[in-house]
Amino acid sequence: NWTMASFIDKEIERIRAIVGPSGQVVGAVSGGVDSTVAAKLMKDAIGDRFHAILVDNGVMRLNECQAVKEILRNRLGINLEVVDASDLFLGRLAGIKNPEKKRKIIGNTFIEVFEKQAALIDERTAASGHGKIDFLLQGTLYPDVIESISFKGPSATIKTHHNVGGLLDDMKLKLIEPLRELFKDEVRALGKLLNIDDELVWRHPFPGPGIAIRILGEVTPAQVAIARAADYIYIEEIKNAGLYRQISQAYAALLPIRSVGVMGDQRTYEQVIALRAVETTDFMTADWFPMPYNVLKRISNRIINEVKGVNRVVYDVSSKPPSTIEWE
Ligand code: XMP
Repeated sequence: NWTMASFIDKEIERIRAIVGPSGQVVGAVSGGVDSTVAAKLMKDAIGDRFHAILVDNGVMRLNECQAVKEILRNRLGINLEVVDASDLFLGRLAGIKNPEKKRKIIGNTFIEVFEKQAALIDERTAASGHGKIDFLLQGTLYPDVIESISFKGPSATIKTHHNVGGLLDDMKLKLIEPLRELFKDEVRALGKLLNIDDELVWRHPFPGPGIAIRILGEVTPAQVAIARAADYIYIEEIKNAGLYRQISQAYAALLPIRSVGVMGDQRTYEQVIALRAVETTDFMTADWFPMPYNVLKRISNRIINEVKGVNRVVYDVSSKPPSTIEWE
């Protein structure tokens, strides 16, 4: 695909021209395809003068932080710093049940942690002769640009998606957005050309507030452990069944109710996992995915047998609208 290959060369030249010979750039990465492709382009353009920051907010998926670190740092050679702020996030989330409050706390804490880390990097590299950090990398795609101009996206008004607008003002950073003219499928093609692992290129989108908005009710370390374990099994079995790419987004939600069950001759009174899987092109509307019964059976058996604290699994058969993709 020569068009994409020439896009890479042109974009790298453009980034070098904008940043200059000693400028520095900072950017948040999440392990998603957009931020990873943007980070890899930046690394190819300016090497270690690009600083990627991965904030562990305590509500990422099971083992995800470690996996993202391994791919970005070791396989892609990106200059990555991981900040483990999970205790800070989980501490602030204690007692909070309202979905929008969770989003606000996570969004604000993220900005705070990110800014602090960027300031540390600035301090540390001041002696190296590089300029101060004056650019912020964002993996904004063309549809995001359109949505923020028209501000008509239903999810933008129904659920506040956190953005990093605050960083631009507080830190006086200029925005650099190498993907702003691309659609998702083009970013995936670009990712392949940049030798990014298939697993990452095809990863389902994951919300900034993570599994905090997939744990209904209070987010405690014990609830996080249950939600993580169930979600991991669910995604693993979807991949085993060869369905991962057909599904646009899938996750396990942990419901804040208990139901009665039986194990051996013991009565149990434990929590419920709701499985969600949707097909969509734009995430504005979505159909529930017709998961094969045999796959559901395997997933349900595994979750109930392997995840302590869960005795019931249900499948969500609601489309958007009127439901949304996330339960919160
Ligand atoms: P809904 O639930 O509104 O989700 O149908 C549509 C898409 O947006 C994602 N989503 C979020 N992404 N921060 C994010 O970064 C959020 O607060 C948030 N809420 C929903 C959701 O995962 C789906 O892809």
